[in-house]
Amino acid sequence: MTVHAPGHVLPCGDDRTWCSALHSGKLLAMGKSGIADGYIHGFDTVEQDRLFQQARIHENVIFSQVSFDSCQSLLEIGSGVGAQTKILLERYPELRIQCLDASKAQADRAAEALKFDVDSGRVNISVGDAMHMPFDENSFDGAFVCWLLEHVQHPVDVLREAHRVLKSGGVIYCNEVFNSTFYVHPYSPATLKFWMEFNDYQWSLKGDPFVGGKLANYLMEAGFQNVTTTVLTHQYDNRTPKKRAAFLDYWVNLLLSGAQNLVATGRVTDDIVRDMQLEMEAMKKDPNSVIFYSWILARAEAW
Ligand SMILES: C[S@@+](CC[C@H](N)C(=O)[O-])C[C@H]1O[C@@H](n2cnc3c(N)ncnc32)[C@H](O)[C@@H]1O
Repeated sequence: MTVHAPGHVLPCGDDRTWCSALHSGKLLAMGKSGIADGYIHGFDTVEQDRLFQQARIHENVIFSQVSFDSCQSLLEIGSGVGAQTKILLERYPELRIQCLDASKAQADRAAEALKFDVDSGRVNISVGDAMHMPFDENSFDGAFVCWLLEHVQHPVDVLREAHRVLKSGGVIYCNEVFNSTFYVHPYSPATLKFWMEFNDYQWSLKGDPFVGGKLANYLMEAGFQNVTTTVLTHQYDNRTPKKRAAFLDYWVNLLLSGAQNLVATGRVTDDIVRDMQLEMEAMKKDPNSVIFYSWILARAEAW
């Protein structure tokens, strides 16, 4: 098996805009207002590729519960490298999409991936903080937020901004992590230790790895109405061995996206990283293994 050296994520990412934003005076204020004090996954090309893979792994589960049929203009907040944007463009051929992400490196990669749709005018990509969106009130029919709120200090303020820029009756979907739901069999102590430190580190950065459980409260606090939530789940066991193996591959890459930061901050040792990978590999070969993860998709309306 390949054991990846913990090393593909730089402590502050390789995104100069982001780093200078967090470390210069002006941008410290930006960090305080909107962006968590760091970003656990980093911004290198391995991580950017992982986001494209991640979007396809979850696509059917998420998008079977999403409808933007009544929308012509959509705002995607925290759009990253455009992985969800690609799916939205495929599924809604009439939709025009405004992407917003705080990282220039992510926006540049999105521009590359979505070149055809940017050139044709279907997609526009902006760099900016979701806390202070550079858009007028009543601009969009819909908004999509995916794996973003776990990374911001003040999720309600982001949702308030979303409410401001949505038209009356506009619909928002938020798809967010709920990391306390993770379960594996057989018992895998290095994996569980790594996961605990992964979440604790994100919490220390003022992100929230459990934000999914609070989405309904946050949407209501931000002024949204008709809030509904759906628990989405990946549950793989002996019924679906191929899907289980694919999901385990995906999961180990997700864990590794935090490895360098976790080692650099002394939260895990190289041995834990190696043992976690060995356990995940053993689970792939174990005919009785189980992997389970749930998260939350919320829908709400801006009236
Ligand atoms: C895990 S990625 C998800 C990207 C995309 N939604 C997807 O599902 O592929 C989170 C993204 O949120 C962005 N982000 C974090 N804080 C932000 C903020 N305050 N405003 C805008 N984007 C932010 C990061 O730069 C990163 O691209």
